[in-house]
Amino acid sequence: MKTIIITGGAGFIGSHVVRLFVNKYPDYNIVNLDALTYAGNLNNLSDIANAPNYTFVKADITDFPSIVEVFNQYKPDGIIHLAAESHVDRSITDPFAFIRTNVMGTCNLLHAAKELWKADMEGKRFYHVSTDEVYGALEFDGTFFTENTKYDPHSPYSASKASSDHFVRAYHDTYGLPVVISNCSNNYGSHHFPEKLIPLAINNIKHNKPIPVYGKGENVRDWLFVNDHARAIDTIFHNGKSGSTYNIGGNNEWKNIDLITLLCSIMDRKLGRQEGESAKLITFVTDRAGHDLRYAIDSTKLQEELGWKPSLQFEEGLERTVDWYLNNEEWIDNITSGEYKKYYEEQYKNR
Ligand code: NAD
Ligand code: TYD
Repeated sequence: MKTIIITGGAGFIGSHVVRLFVNKYPDYNIVNLDALTYAGNLNNLSDIANAPNYTFVKADITDFPSIVEVFNQYKPDGIIHLAAESHVDRSITDPFAFIRTNVMGTCNLLHAAKELWKADMEGKRFYHVSTDEVYGALEFDGTFFTENTKYDPHSPYSASKASSDHFVRAYHDTYGLPVVISNCSNNYGSHHFPEKLIPLAINNIKHNKPIPVYGKGENVRDWLFVNDHARAIDTIFHNGKSGSTYNIGGNNEWKNIDLITLLCSIMDRKLGRQEGESAKLITFVTDRAGHDLRYAIDSTKLQEELGWKPSLQFEEGLERTVDWYLNNEEWIDNITSGEYKKYYEEQYKNR
């Protein structure tokens, strides 16, 4: 049996990756290693929590001795690393949390993997899940980020992810660690923590609260359905070339204001409101510091080398996403109110 440790499996993307692997590979032993920070939620995985090939381990990647202990206990053949601090706005108010988790945490995992595998690296794989934000920002000039685009991060979040990517390559080049990296565009879908644009807007529209749009809403993001990202991770984990980087994207650029306007019209229809009613909630607010203008991904390498492509049109994916949030009100209410909210706000303040 192959044992794979997936870090950050209780978070948004991680939970989709864990679910895919647990269901698709019954002969793999899937270990979800997560510290359950404010963003980690075991409710995300309630449907597979009792699967025979699934184990949850609560551990913090910033704590090297406990990572070594977990690695020695489970002896993984593969690591898929998603655990991170992931919200740009939080990185502006608390950059050190991002340096600790995203840089130090990644180095701890790399080092523990190197120590565990040093006698024989054959058949082993360390997969680092990263972001397109490491490449910086594009102008409105029709260009795309490729795997060869120079790193130029602007936020503490993207700088911490860029740094972790460099360490992953350094462990490959210096110690021969069999690594693979992917840099993906913005994800959307179910179980997305409601501090991020799409779930925040859905929740605010539902409760008739203002939808905060930064600046003039002119910034552009390339949006990919989270299940398509999970499929790409599966493909790259199994077939990607060791030492390689793959860009993952939806070829689906949207200005924030156009995306929010589309979301408002879907919500009007779903909630039986008059067309245009939800759009009245759009509120332009002070722009994010260092706000990257445009992200756009060229995923030709992944498509041509490994045969992956996005499966969903954005309108359909967004509609499915809205349906999920409206049908799972308890999930979002648990996060946005009461004890859990108090818990994660307190936890964050104390770091
Ligand atoms: P998320 O914030 O929803 O989840 C992060 C998970 O990591 C949580 O379960 C949290 O408990 C866990 N975690 C955080 N710190 C930890 C620590 N010190 N030790 C162990 N576990 C810890 O994040 P996400 O949006 O699912 O992103 C997952 C990964 O994908 C990140 O590495 C992120 O940089 C990358 N990524 C995200 C996007 C996106 O659009 N969300 C796009 C491209 C890449
Ligand atoms: P976000 O979901 O935070 O992802 P990222 O910053 O990693 O791209 O934000 C997506 C875009 O939406 C980004 O351009 C910032 C903008 N934004 C708003 O306009 N209002 C909001 O309340 C948030 C959270 C984001």
